[in-house]
Amino acid sequence: MNFDLKTLDLAAAALEKCDLLVVLIAEGFKPGKDALSSLAALAVKNGDLSTKPGKHLQLYQPPAVAARRVVLLGVGDGSARAARQALLAVAGALKAPKTQRAVLCFAADAKPAAVSAAVQAVAEASYVYTTTKPKADARALSRCIVGVPAIAAVREAFDTGVALVAGVEFAREWGNRPANHATPSLLAEAAKGLAKLPRIQCKVHGPAEVARLKMGAFLAVARGSEEPLRFIELRYDGAPSSQPPVVLVGKGITFDTGGISIKPAAEMDEMKFDMCGAAGVLGTFRALGELQPAINVVGLIPACENMPDGRAVKPGDVVTSMSGQTIEILNTDAEGRLVLCDALTYAARFKPAAMVDIATLTGACVIALGGVRSGLFANDDALAAALQSAGESAQDLCWRMPLDDDYADGLKSNFADMGNVAGRAGGSITAAKFLQKFVGDIPWAHLDIAGTAWKGGAAKGSTGRPVALLVQYLLDQAATAKPAAAKRTAKK
Ligand code: BES
Ligand code: MN
Ligand code: ZN
Repeated sequence: MNFDLKTLDLAAAALEKCDLLVVLIAEGFKPGKDALSSLAALAVKNGDLSTKPGKHLQLYQPPAVAARRVVLLGVGDGSARAARQALLAVAGALKAPKTQRAVLCFAADAKPAAVSAAVQAVAEASYVYTTTKPKADARALSRCIVGVPAIAAVREAFDTGVALVAGVEFAREWGNRPANHATPSLLAEAAKGLAKLPRIQCKVHGPAEVARLKMGAFLAVARGSEEPLRFIELRYDGAPSSQPPVVLVGKGITFDTGGISIKPAAEMDEMKFDMCGAAGVLGTFRALGELQPAINVVGLIPACENMPDGRAVKPGDVVTSMSGQTIEILNTDAEGRLVLCDALTYAARFKPAAMVDIATLTGACVIALGGVRSGLFANDDALAAALQSAGESAQDLCWRMPLDDDYADGLKSNFADMGNVAGRAGGSITAAKFLQKFVGDIPWAHLDIAGTAWKGGAAKGSTGRPVALLVQYLLDQAATAKPAAAKRTAKK
């Protein structure tokens, strides 16, 4: 889908020929003398339209307006959150068939963050998955003009929003693909495709290389599958090589049956989404390729299936991780931490400024935080604060969880340096404590996206989270690291 930013007041917006014109009306709206303004003001005055976010009034070919359909939409205080909420409330209008050209017009001054949020919300509302459902009504919307009274102040936020859409949709696409269309090898091909973007490189390691690296935990998970594992290594070089990178590590279990500790049948299909951490890393690189910020980023994706088989790892087996620490695999369904721990050990070789792993790690995190906020765990307060605030500004929320050492007690084993599971209590925290044993003193954060990466039920599908959070975090880092870049963002 194409987005364009254009200087438009409501008089000019009325002349735009399109299938749908959405007029965003914030609290304290002051009407001009044009027809649309008068209509909106009258509707508000008569109590037929409220400026509360999401409240709206639909019109059909009103006189003196070139658009076929018009939606007058309340956007509350005009914040990013309210704009997003409002546009998602009229998702039906945005994805209606024959809605090819839309114009979104802010009736008054638009906040930069609201412009970015509006672009993302339009894309989110109109997205249609078609890869394995080619006869689905594909997304009708092909062009969206965002009109604001003055473009200079919002240009950068608009560009960020458009890049985020590309990243989020890349992540949604790979998240949604069924496991037989998103094998470890296919994920690796997708990563190689990203290396066509400027400053991005990709290396893919196979089973032999991973064995040479002595990634015994990762290898143990992959053993039960006929699909060969892939260890994907992406680089984005946006800053001098002297600048230490941020390393992102994405869990890439392309299907999680649970292995020998097999999962129940109900909803097991949703375990095709168990590579959404990996998809989040790929989507982030997609957006970086677009935005070209002054920062170095490494992306690592351990990708394999978790399957039961004659060769599969068994409960009680002890393996040696790349770090040298031994692990008693008490439950083969706690496989995410096993592939991640070796990737985190590998990550240390980049001497990272910070590393962040992203994983659909625990059902317990879904119980704790539901689908609203991702779980955030960190051994570093500054990193935690930076991620949490990036999430707030990108409307991709997370919430910090504790990491007291007492939570690691349950990981003790009589037969290895640690077990891979503790009890049921505090399951998302004990999983994070397991990972922490592999990060040393490097500033590290872990995002448990089990509740936020996809939706179940009738709206089943990937959300593309936490691409917006990660990209915002990296943009914030680039802005603070480089004075020149900092000056650029200070203007907005
Ligand atoms: N991929 C799952 C986590 C998951 C389950 C995410 C359901 C979203 C919905 C992970 O590999 C897993 O199976 N975790 C186990 C850990 C347990 C065995 C300690 C879990 O959460 O049940
Ligand atoms: Mn599992
Ligand atoms: Zn899993």
